[in-house]
Amino acid sequence: MQRGNTFTFAFAFLICVVCSVSLAVAATYLKPAQDVAQRLDVIKNILSVAGYPDEEIAAQMRRNPRELIATFEQNFHARIVDQNNREVPLDEIKSELVTRLGYNREELDQKQAFEIIQIFQEKLSLLAASAGQTEEQYDPGYNLLFLYQPEGQLKYYIVPVEGYGLWDMIYGYIALEPDLNTVADIRFYKHQETPGLGGECSKPWFTNNFRGKKILNDQGEFVSIAVVKGKAAELHEGESLNHYVDGISGGTITGQGITRFLREDLGRYNEYFQTIRTAEAPI
Ligand SMILES: Cc1cc2nc3c(=O)[nH]c(=O)nc-3n(C[C@H](O)[C@H](O)[C@H](O)COP(=O)(O)O)c2cc1C
Repeated sequence: MQRGNTFTFAFAFLICVVCSVSLAVAATYLKPAQDVAQRLDVIKNILSVAGYPDEEIAAQMRRNPRELIATFEQNFHARIVDQNNREVPLDEIKSELVTRLGYNREELDQKQAFEIIQIFQEKLSLLAASAGQTEEQYDPGYNLLFLYQPEGQLKYYIVPVEGYGLWDMIYGYIALEPDLNTVADIRFYKHQETPGLGGECSKPWFTNNFRGKKILNDQGEFVSIAVVKGKAAELHEGESLNHYVDGISGGTITGQGITRFLREDLGRYNEYFQTIRTAEAPI
């Protein structure tokens, strides 16, 4: 039986409508599960850089992911600092989202600080428009860090670090001792670098090299930590060796990316860190 063009177009249109509706329903239905998975991923990595054994994290995940979230909430406290080094209450940021963009307060209260900051950054252009300012004028330049305080005692400051490697963004966390100078540990948890080459950046043999390294030189100036091409100990000695780690063979560009974004990110936090170091220095 012959069918006309109208039937063909109507059939194609119907298929398109059915497919888009199913995709929209699936995306909406799966969104809460995706949000929880992303939240757990961030939490797992923060726990890991703070020294929680990976097996314990995996065991808590298996038993009940809520347990992992509870461990995180009990021991880690988010702090948000603006570009003038003012510690900004999370409530202030939530209120901005509620009043300017009509976000639901109760829904925001269910979210973690790192999710609130992410929303704020994603919606920056809308927030700026609502305030009648350019993004540059409006942007408070929020920086987020975590204080790891098991039993109320400050153990580490944890800072997110991220930037381009060779292929795409690399995301990580670095933990600093309370002196805000010595590296306790580092994790690179999300990247697209080639396995066996730049992808080695997430392996313990590479990240362990950062332990004990210093971000300040002996004069107290910020120098960051750089990834060398080859072995750090063959290229540097004495105090200088405090600021270099071994490179990845076949992953030099990844290493250069890590060097660059560590300098940028830690440099951005360093001004605020300096206010803490100065406040805590013995008189
Ligand atoms: C398929 C392919 C994948 C690569 N992946 C990476 C990578 O993830 N990171 C990186 O730095 N270099 C990667 N490279 C190598 C770079 O092109 C470059 O040669 C390398 O960074 C130089 O490092 P080396 O001096 O240690 O050999 C890749 C090369 C090829 C052909």
